[in-house]
Amino acid sequence: KKNICVLISGTGTNLQALMDACDAGRIDGSISAVISNNADAFGLERARNAGIKTHCLSHKDFASRDDYDLALGDLLAQYDADCIVLAGFMRILTPEFVARFSGKLLNIHPSLLPKYRGLHTHQRAIENKDTEHGVSVHYVTPELDGGPVIVQSRVPVFDDDTVEDLAERVSEQELRIYPLVVKWFCEGRLAMKENKAVFDNEILPETGYA
Ligand code: GAR
Repeated sequence: KKNICVLISGTGTNLQALMDACDAGRIDGSISAVISNNADAFGLERARNAGIKTHCLSHKDFASRDDYDLALGDLLAQYDADCIVLAGFMRILTPEFVARFSGKLLNIHPSLLPKYRGLHTHQRAIENKDTEHGVSVHYVTPELDGGPVIVQSRVPVFDDDTVEDLAERVSEQELRIYPLVVKWFCEGRLAMKENKAVFDNEILPETGYA
């Protein structure tokens, strides 16, 4: 079984989907720790209720981003994680942190990257009158939301969509694709080579797109 650490800042719906997939044996891994930069993150409660070890490491307690990322890295190193899953972890990571865990860091971002890096992605898609929006799971590299994409899922944008409508439609896809990618990762069927995501050949049919 692979050892997974999950980093969160908020509600933790993606965390919940990963916990469920591990519990059900769909992911050949177990979550050894959930770490949040925000003590009020509801995701911490989800983890505690499931008996998973939690840590709150507040960025407010550190003088600089470098100091914070060093402490976060040291905490993660204690768990010797095979896979570090960013699930709504709303922090920019230093290049040093990313290099320390290179190839093990996954992120989910609510847009069809490379479109809409950063914040307020749903609002930007609506304002730009996009007809299509979605979510990307990608490897983390030092470039913010710029690492190689592993999987994307697309959703339509309707004329009368509010930000909440669109967020809900995207969220459904998040909860579907993140556990799938973590499953592949834990099975060793996924790697990052020369800044590209590489799959083994059997994965494509499982996505339903092949
Ligand atoms: C998710 O929509 C995720 O895509 C987004 O935060 C939300 C976390 O929700 N991540 C980012 O915006 C990263 N830049 P959750 O706490 O319910 O999983």
